[in-house]
Amino acid sequence: MAAVQQTDQNSGDIARALLAHYDQHARQLPWRKLPGSGQADPYHVWLSEIMLQQTTVAAVGSYFNKFTKIWPDFASLAAADDADVMAAWAGLGYYARARNLLKCARVVVAEHGGQLPKTESALLKLPGIGPYTAAAIAAIAFGQRAVVVDANVERVVSRLFAISTPLPQAKPLIRAATDSITPQMRAGDFAQAMMDLGAGICSVRAPSCLLCPVSFACSALRTGSPEAYPQKMPKAVKPQRKGSVYWIERDAHVWLVRRGDKGLLGGMRALPDDQWTARVDGHNTPPMSVVWRKLPMPVSHIFTHFSLLIDIAVTSWPAGADEPGEGEWWPVKLLDKAGLPTVFRKAAEAVLSAGERA
Ligand code: ADE
Repeated sequence: MAAVQQTDQNSGDIARALLAHYDQHARQLPWRKLPGSGQADPYHVWLSEIMLQQTTVAAVGSYFNKFTKIWPDFASLAAADDADVMAAWAGLGYYARARNLLKCARVVVAEHGGQLPKTESALLKLPGIGPYTAAAIAAIAFGQRAVVVDANVERVVSRLFAISTPLPQAKPLIRAATDSITPQMRAGDFAQAMMDLGAGICSVRAPSCLLCPVSFACSALRTGSPEAYPQKMPKAVKPQRKGSVYWIERDAHVWLVRRGDKGLLGGMRALPDDQWTARVDGHNTPPMSVVWRKLPMPVSHIFTHFSLLIDIAVTSWPAGADEPGEGEWWPVKLLDKAGLPTVFRKAAEAVLSAGERA
């Protein structure tokens, strides 16, 4: 079979049918302007697209609302404290995005007068903006024709054209096929209509082809197994790492550190650990030689590239002793305000529910 099955429909028919469907059924999302109600705010489009990288629409909604309430534009975000932004991002994951978000806001203010540039090539030069995000912002915020391919679009297009080459090798084919059906006008609505189609009707396991506005042009539907696309190479098994975190408590306060700017969870508040990374287990030597009580059960957490089994050790810190190092005492009662990444929140919850505290 050829790698790409030609759709015999005129590619313009696909865009027309999809846009007509979008005009009736577009999802209402906080950052979106519905068809016919004007151009979306570029700051909203940029912020939502950064948040939506590797994250679902459902998870992003409350973060988007929080961020736009505290920092309504590039100028206010650029002037924010790094620690406040990192804490507000806590729980959304992929923390390099938050560091780049701030860098990008500061470049936009310092070098572009507080307004995003409008072309894909200029957008691509900004921190945190890759080819997908540059195309999405150019199309959605500035009405430019750009070819926007995210995971949902990949699925829709690989089905429309019955692309039999597996991912990731199929990416250039999928991009070319998407280019061939992207209209000159309303490219932003077209991109969002494709995303909505992928998020709803053209779902991974059980596509609702009877409801699909572009089923007439779908080569995968004609094969009888649309759900078999996109084809994928088998996933590599994630390495399993072991590590420890340390709960040091004094007078209903717990000792928190700030992680170095570079690397996993960089710049985030955290419990002290024994330096586990995606590549190595922790060294299993506590940060100071005092009496530690180990919780009977480890906690597990799954990152993108590895899974981690964490032992948790608890100690109480004597009232008059020197500080445990560089960090801060944080009230245990207010721990949900510390902006801890999920892995440390899980560890804290394990301590608090184990009744192991002094
Ligand atoms: N996923 C990424 N960007 C999106 C958007 N603008 N609308 C819906 N889903 C998306």
